[in-house]
Amino acid sequence: MPKPKVFVTRVIPEAGLAKVREACDATVWSEPLPPPADVLRREVAGCEGLLSLLTERIDAELLDAAPRLRVVSNYAVGFNNIDVSAATARGIAVGNTPGVLTDATADMAFALLIAAARRIVESQHYAASGRWKTWEPLGHIGQDLVGRTLGVLGMGRIGMALARRCHGGWGMRVLYHDPRANPDAERELAARRVELDTLLAESDFVSVHTDLNDTTRGMFGAAAFRKMKPTAVFVNTSRGPLVVERDLAEALRQGWIFAAGLDVTDPEPPSPDNPLLSLANCIVAPHIASATVTSRNQMAEIAADNLIAGVRGEPLRAWVNPEVADRRTGSD
Ligand code: DGY
Repeated sequence: MPKPKVFVTRVIPEAGLAKVREACDATVWSEPLPPPADVLRREVAGCEGLLSLLTERIDAELLDAAPRLRVVSNYAVGFNNIDVSAATARGIAVGNTPGVLTDATADMAFALLIAAARRIVESQHYAASGRWKTWEPLGHIGQDLVGRTLGVLGMGRIGMALARRCHGGWGMRVLYHDPRANPDAERELAARRVELDTLLAESDFVSVHTDLNDTTRGMFGAAAFRKMKPTAVFVNTSRGPLVVERDLAEALRQGWIFAAGLDVTDPEPPSPDNPLLSLANCIVAPHIASATVTSRNQMAEIAADNLIAGVRGEPLRAWVNPEVADRRTGSD
C-alpha cells in the first residue's frame, strides 16, 4: 500500500522526523525560512497530512487547495496560525503539542522577569562597551523579587509553572486573572483570582500566559500599562499581538512601568526600527521559550504522532478539535 503523502514545513528534530519518514511519503521543506504561501499551497495540494509551524498561516483558502487533507499537525502548543473552525468544517483534524514545553516556557518567563528586573542585558552591554570604570554605589539599581507580587494573566499549565517558581523560590504572593478559576493554584500557591484592573494595580511582575484570540488581541495597550506600578516589570512569552507595541514603547520611555521582557513580538521578526529593540529597559528574545533539547524533541514526537494518526483516521495524541471525529472522511 502506498504511504500517505505529507508535507513538513521545516526540518524539525529527528525524534519526530524519523517517525514521519518511516510512516509517510514525506516532503520536507529544508530552507531556514518558511515556504512562501504559493509554494505551501502547491505542496499541500495532493497531501493527506501537513505538519506546520506557527509561521504558517493555515486558512480556509489553503485548506480548499488541499482536498485530500485529513490532518494539520502544528509543531507548537499555540494554534492561532490555524483557522480551526475552517478545518473542522472540512473534516480536517488539528493537532498541537501541549504539556511538553511548560517548564521550558516558565523558565524563560522567569529568566526574562529577573533579567529585566535586575537590568542584566543592559549591564552586559555596559560592561562590554568599556564604560565600566568602577563599582558604582548608585549604578544599575533594579527591582527586588523576594516577597513581591506576581500577576499571572492566564493561569493554565505555563502560568501555574511560573507561579510555582515565584511563590516557592521567592515567596511571592500570586494574583491571577482568568475566565476560569484554577483551584489547584489557589490551594497550592494561595493564588487569588482577581479582576484585571486589580492585578495590574497590585502586581510587581505581570506575566502573560493567555491565548491569542479576538478577545485578547491588543489587551495590553496604553490603558493597561498606565494602571501598572512604575516599578512593575511586564513579561510576555505568549503571543506578540496581545500587546500594542507602540503603547508598550511609550510606557517604557515615559516610566509608566520599569521594564519589559518579551519572547514574542508583532510581527515576528520585528522591523529593525522597532523602538522596543533599542530601549535599554526592554529585553527582546527571538521566540525561544520552548527551545530546549527535551522540549523540542518531545514536541517533534507529538507532532509526528498527531500527523501519523491523522492520516490514518485515528484519534490524535493531542487533538485541538476532537469534535471533528464525526465529520472525518476516508477509508480507515
Ligand atoms: C508554542 O508552542 O506555541 C510556542 O510559542 C513555540 O514553541
